Amino acid sequence: MTQTCIHYAEPGARPGAPPLLLLHGTGGDERDLVPLARRVSPGSEILSLRGQVLERGMPRFFRRLSEGVFDEADLMTRADDLAAFVTEWRRTHPGERFTALGYSNGANIAAALLLLHPGLLSGAVLMRAMAPLATPPAPDLAGTRVLMLSGAQDPIVPLAWRTALERSLRNTGAEIENRVHDAGHGLVDDDLTSAARWLGGSSTARIISMAKRRADVVGIFPNDAAIAPPTILQLFSGKCCCDVILCTHDMAKVFGLAC
Ligand code: MLT
Repeated sequence: MTQTCIHYAEPGARPGAPPLLLLHGTGGDERDLVPLARRVSPGSEILSLRGQVLERGMPRFFRRLSEGVFDEADLMTRADDLAAFVTEWRRTHPGERFTALGYSNGANIAAALLLLHPGLLSGAVLMRAMAPLATPPAPDLAGTRVLMLSGAQDPIVPLAWRTALERSLRNTGAEIENRVHDAGHGLVDDDLTSAARWLGGSSTARIISMAKRRADVVGIFPNDAAIAPPTILQLFSGKCCCDVILCTHDMAKVFGLAC
């Protein structure tokens, strides 16, 4: 039977916004990243988990032997448990695959989930992450998007450890974007800006792919395109979403738009 896990959840409120799986850092809990998630991806469905391991009373997602030295056997078991919980959650709360948004220890377990449970996540924002496994597997993660957000002066994640993570993810064929900000282990505004832009890009890509599956939608135009308002077909409940406008084939013909 799937183990239960202390969590916080809220349903999505914006079509196209990627569902987010929030994974906190050492000493955090399931509430920690919720304000950040709402800020970088408003309206996203949220499932936020609390780590099951306690280190001197501080929740974590897996045991470590010392700073940066992980108990890999425990890490693998915890990753399996977490994957089982998320899979069961999706069975009972149908929706698209989650994008992980993890910080520090949460980013490290998210990286482990990508490598050990390919297909579970559609992507991940890894904030202040390092390689979780000494000898990582290289599953096929083509089509999986990953944003790595690192601090140039991070005293907890040395350059070699984040480089090792980037290398192991690149070996899988995942689409990696790596941003190094002028920061330490703590997050700065640039991290939030990068995450919001990257997650917004993923919203746009998702809307475009949803739109392309609709036979009547043949053109997608940026918001600033010169299209008279009556020609605009707003796909979702009459509200314009993100930065795309969808236009039917007939409307496009009337206005001589190339599709
Ligand atoms: C870890 O243990 O996952 C990393 O050292 C980051 C942290 O301090 O939690």
